Amino acid sequence: VANRFENVQHVIRVALIFAIGLVSFFVLRGFFVPSDFGLEGFYRAGARVDAQALPLQYAGEADCLTCHVDVADLRAANRHKAVSCETCHGPNKAHVDDPTTVKPARVNAETFCVTCHAKGAGKPAFLPQIVAADHYGTACVDCHAPHKPRIDAGGEAAARRPE
Ligand code: HEC
Ligand code: HEC
Ligand code: HEC
Ligand code: HEC
Repeated sequence: VANRFENVQHVIRVALIFAIGLVSFFVLRGFFVPSDFGLEGFYRAGARVDAQALPLQYAGEADCLTCHVDVADLRAANRHKAVSCETCHGPNKAHVDDPTTVKPARVNAETFCVTCHAKGAGKPAFLPQIVAADHYGTACVDCHAPHKPRIDAGGEAAARRPE
């Protein structure tokens, strides 16, 4: 009967390589994974604290409505009520904190309205869609008031800012 352990060194070499791999994995893992990883879930617990420390950018529609009552009235019963102020006007916490010095950036309706309303096969049916080239031109707010866009519902053309 041949010695069945005759070639055992081959197995030992492979086992050794696996062992070295495993040990280096745990050593490197200990080195690279932050100590607070996994305390609260599969993420670094400190990331939540880091995110909380970032300054707020968005105020939320409720804040806007405390001052802009006229816009709220316009929007009360039309379909754009579904779109919140800061979706169009951008993050405006700074303006809420200091409304006279910090003004919201101007919304360029000519390029902005079509980001939602340009016809697209994947868009939901409740979203009215147009092909801008076949519609009435790109000066959307000459005809559609942004806060009350339906033309036959008494919406006035957009109040334009003084130049
Ligand atoms: C504390 C009151 C107050 C709050 C809250 C407020 N605003 Fe205003 N907002 C003003 C005043 C006052 C002006 C006019 C500033 C001026 O023309 O000097 C203004 C102007 C604006 C303008 C026109 C800027 C221009 O250049 O004519 C926009 C757009 C606007 N606000 C959007 C918002 C949005 C969006 C929010 C919520 C994120 C908001 N506001 C919250 C008081 C407020
Ligand atoms: C569908 C996009 C859209 C939404 C939603 C929207 N706005 Fe506007 N808003 C505009 C556009 C476009 C203008 C005209 C261009 C400009 O001033 O930037 C405008 C103008 C304004 C102005 C200045 C002149 C005016 O018409 O009174 C104020 C103030 C304002 N918006 C506040 C608000 C507030 C407050 C909300 C939420 C209650 C809101 N907007 C929601 C697009 C929008
Ligand atoms: C963030 C996406 C978004 C943007 C930007 C946007 N809209 Fe809309 N708009 C909507 C949605 C959503 C509806 C339909 C809401 C519903 O029926 O629930 C709508 C409805 C409308 C309607 C149909 C109103 C009616 O009563 O039948 C018109 C017209 C319109 N938008 C014009 C505009 C114009 C002009 C602008 C640019 C000032 C604009 N929209 C910007 C999302 C958007
Ligand atoms: C010269 C005036 C005029 C201009 C400019 C204009 N529209 Fe209109 N739009 C209308 C009229 C009128 C209607 C309603 C009758 C119709 O559908 O032809 C309408 C309807 C719509 C509707 C509703 C379509 C539906 O299926 O219910 C949307 C959305 C719309 N417009 C978005 C826009 C956008 C976005 C722009 C800018 C790229 C724009 N419009 C420019 C006059 C205009």
